Amino acid sequence: MASNQQPWWQTGIIYQVYPRSFQDSNGDGVGDLKGIRRRLDHLQWLGIDAIWLSPIFPSPMADFGYDVSNYTDIHPLFGNLADFDELLQAVHARGMKLLLDLVPNHTSHQHPWFLESRSSRDNPKRDWYIWKDPQPDGSLPNNWLSVFGGSGWEWDERTEQYYYHAFLKEQPDLNWRNPEVQEAMFNVMRFWLDKGVDGFRVDVLWFIFKDEQLRDNPVNPDYAPHLPTFDQLLPVYSTDQPEVQDITRKMRSVLEEYEGDRVLIAEVYLPIPRLMAYYGENNNGAHLPFNFLLMALPWDARQIAATIDEYEGALPPGGWPNWVLSNHDRPRIASRVGMHQAAVAAMLLLTLRGTPTIYYGDEIAMRDVAIPREEIQDPQGLNMPDKNLSRDPARTPMQWDEGKNAGFSPGKPWLRLDKAYARTNVQSQRADAHSMLRLFHRLIQLRRKEPALSAGSYNAVYADSQVMAFTRRSEGHPSFLIVLNLTHRPGYFRPDNFSFNGTVEIAVSRELEGGKVSHTISLDGDEGLLIRLHEPS
Ligand code: NOJ
Repeated sequence: MASNQQPWWQTGIIYQVYPRSFQDSNGDGVGDLKGIRRRLDHLQWLGIDAIWLSPIFPSPMADFGYDVSNYTDIHPLFGNLADFDELLQAVHARGMKLLLDLVPNHTSHQHPWFLESRSSRDNPKRDWYIWKDPQPDGSLPNNWLSVFGGSGWEWDERTEQYYYHAFLKEQPDLNWRNPEVQEAMFNVMRFWLDKGVDGFRVDVLWFIFKDEQLRDNPVNPDYAPHLPTFDQLLPVYSTDQPEVQDITRKMRSVLEEYEGDRVLIAEVYLPIPRLMAYYGENNNGAHLPFNFLLMALPWDARQIAATIDEYEGALPPGGWPNWVLSNHDRPRIASRVGMHQAAVAAMLLLTLRGTPTIYYGDEIAMRDVAIPREEIQDPQGLNMPDKNLSRDPARTPMQWDEGKNAGFSPGKPWLRLDKAYARTNVQSQRADAHSMLRLFHRLIQLRRKEPALSAGSYNAVYADSQVMAFTRRSEGHPSFLIVLNLTHRPGYFRPDNFSFNGTVEIAVSRELEGGKVSHTISLDGDEGLLIRLHEPS
């Protein structure tokens, strides 16, 4: 299949911006829309296709924007609607796309819908949220837990009922069984689509429907104390209910009211067979249910190779894969596998079949930053202080240059920067031919140029306890072999049934580029090779 027949969200690359931390333009220490606009040169040079912005809407910021109090405006911290329009126009002028974060599971407790809903039991919006009486003995409606610690139920003094919140009590869950709620959220989508946004990443899509009878969740037999308290139960009745598929299909239809290839990306953390359901029947669900396997698996060549095949094999016909290494909720890749392996991981992300999502800063191997206890901001960290679950370390300001605050802000940044920013930043890495940034750049440019890499088939070739290898092929175009050493020790690529001749096109160690390879390859620790195959035509 020629790549130009495929929509951009299949052949392209997505880049996640966490707006608070990308670029501050007004010195208040928090990133903003004008700041993002100023940094578009970097993204264009890097070669990404679409920018996904974490929430930029008015919010009391109890969960840093994932508690929305107005879905159709911009938080003053980030700017205003005119700034948004300018940003969107500037992104489009550069041939890139802009995706927004849609947060449909819950609103802020300050959202007018919730203020109305909680005002009285007979308010017309009462049923827009999930209200429940205590059980006859006075206890909570059921045993459901909040992801951020404690019970999922909060007592409302005035109206003497509980409301349900899967996250903070400041994030009451909407009742998606109510058609008015559905229509209200679809209209939110239309508001932004009318402006020209190119799609949405849908927050916790698998949470939005709950069991109609609100049955108790079962106890998780594998719970261990270091895990979040939410994991004490298996959320079988509070998440991933069959009704969600109907809503996904409806969200997809809203996108299809519009011209162009607008994309629906769904945040879904589920095992492979359940994840696949979110593609919908005949692919009428999400275009890309996020695939977080590379964030969850142990960094082990055999296991990763096997799971890639498991995922490829489970995809529904026509379902397009995607891959993610880091995001704003999990530790960064460089902190999970180390700086050196982060380069191998980048090569994996950018050579697999499927749309890659790059988390801001991973292109310069930013690492998680230690945030002293008294500076912790993330509610997940504050609510379970003994478990080291704060997400702040992966959300620190982007490191642009060696100047004050790494060029992020002239004011005091909302989160402290990595003290090593003078060494690890965009400017210094652009000047260094051996840097992570230049590796990302080379990989992205080649992926854009070669149909086999963006759209071609994937075939596993080899895996042992250290090394994994696969090919990417597209008929009528050059083929590639990718060989990755996922350990720090030297290893060997010695396949039994695969003979080849090729030239190293990109290597983690640039010294190897241009070298001819065939048969067996010995690899240094932390090495990755992208090899152009010479095949009889
Ligand atoms: C998932 C988001 O990625 C996370 O940051 C947020 O805290 C929860 N959803 C709740 O909206």
